[in-house]
Amino acid sequence: MSEVSISDYLLTHLERGGTVPMNRQLYGLLRDGILGGAILPGLRVPPSRALAADLGVSRNTVTYAYDQLIAEGYLEARTGDGTYVADTEPDMARLPAALTGDAATADGGAGSLLSGRGERLLSGTGASSAQWGAFMPGIPDITRFPNEVWSKLQARHWRRIAPGLLTYGDGAGYLPLREAIASHLRTARSVNCTAEQVIVTSGTHQSIQLASTLLGEMGDTAWVEDPCYWGTRNVIRSSGLAPLPLPVDEEGMQLPEEALRTPPRFIFVTPSHQYPLGPVMSLARRRLLLEYAARHKVWVVEDDYDSEFRYSGPPLASLQGLDSNERVIYLGTFSKTLFPGLRIGFMVVPSALAPRFARANAELFRDGQSFLHAVLADFMNEGHFSSHVRKMRQLYAERLACLQAAIRHELGDIATISGGDAGLHLALGLPTGTNDVAISQAAKVRGILTRPLSAYYAEPTSARPGLMLGYAAVSTESIPPLFAELAQEIRGQLCHLDTRA
Ligand SMILES: Cc1ncc(COP(=O)(O)O)c(C=O)c1O
Repeated sequence: MSEVSISDYLLTHLERGGTVPMNRQLYGLLRDGILGGAILPGLRVPPSRALAADLGVSRNTVTYAYDQLIAEGYLEARTGDGTYVADTEPDMARLPAALTGDAATADGGAGSLLSGRGERLLSGTGASSAQWGAFMPGIPDITRFPNEVWSKLQARHWRRIAPGLLTYGDGAGYLPLREAIASHLRTARSVNCTAEQVIVTSGTHQSIQLASTLLGEMGDTAWVEDPCYWGTRNVIRSSGLAPLPLPVDEEGMQLPEEALRTPPRFIFVTPSHQYPLGPVMSLARRRLLLEYAARHKVWVVEDDYDSEFRYSGPPLASLQGLDSNERVIYLGTFSKTLFPGLRIGFMVVPSALAPRFARANAELFRDGQSFLHAVLADFMNEGHFSSHVRKMRQLYAERLACLQAAIRHELGDIATISGGDAGLHLALGLPTGTNDVAISQAAKVRGILTRPLSAYYAEPTSARPGLMLGYAAVSTESIPPLFAELAQEIRGQLCHLDTRA
């Protein structure tokens, strides 16, 4: 293309009266022409005055575009000799031949842009785009959160905000919050800890990732409950660990002889309220697990996600509190007690590991949000946290009883209920062969959110059908009519089952 034809090219492509200013259009057209090969390296571009006249634009418009292209390396100005298209064509001869076929796509599968690890992560995703509505499991009643108290505490900090609260964090979290968490855990959960052992994270997923990365090697085995929380399985898998699912019974994760013969690096458990089925790990099994972990140097990761809400009997002590060999990494979250969007969780690690976890947290995630930590620390220290949890416990107990009654009323003996002693959800067991995925999809069309229980199992052969039902965020009055609608879908599916039998 010559100088003349550059003017022609621009004249035909400029859009007069459009929304993009002329100088940006000119810049974009020249850049695209150079990158696309229509305007070749070494070509002299028309002087700005001449081009401005040809295009009927101001000279400033042209110099803006030229200056920008010179600054980005597309054009070069030669003193006393005009402006030229720079030679930025990559020298292909210097590049090794491109890989072809399967090797080019690594193990991400033919045509995939993702790595094999990325593909594996996304093959079992569980996060739902719908997060609010009856009967979404695991969601507290966000509408009851004491916004006014929180905003007063927040305003108090922002009025004279300490600069330290607006910089990066130190990896461990704001000390007064760690102190408040440690004090709460000692009294409410019998966790054996000091504030120095508490690392504040942005939730359980991040805590699991930190533990997996710092304490495990790629390919190490991690025992997980089957069924288990999809998030646990996905995070540890994407961290390079190999999950080995072990079945769950009424005493929690089973520890079969065969598995015990080959100690893993990690054991991930939810001993206070097994997720999703609900049993509490028996004392005998807790002791066996801890003894085994101590003997074989296994890390036990205790996910204590919702045990502030216990409806029958006194709160259960944590597994960590029973451990005298520092093999337990304890995980907690404010997602259930306050609200999930807060994204604050915490881990309690053995004292010797705490400074290194803090450093790694800063290195990997560049932590911060200290202003939010400060508000939460005040919220806890001034008694609002325990008072909110107390109120919510009462409210959720009422809603749980209402849902249990609705289930009995609508489905009688057809369905079983498990996991209703604690937390924010229960698991509704349905007869073998029921298509729980179809029920969940049909219910969603009616605006009712549930999760199919079978989706939580790693082993399809042991998957039991059912529905995960959250009740905490559903008003007591609306539980019976909404469950009646859901029961209609369930009965419809059960009819298919009967006709097939
Ligand atoms: C078993 C379990 N652990 C932890 C969490 C919470 O994770 P986070 O703290 O990342 O919100 C959930 C949320 O549903 C869960 O079901």
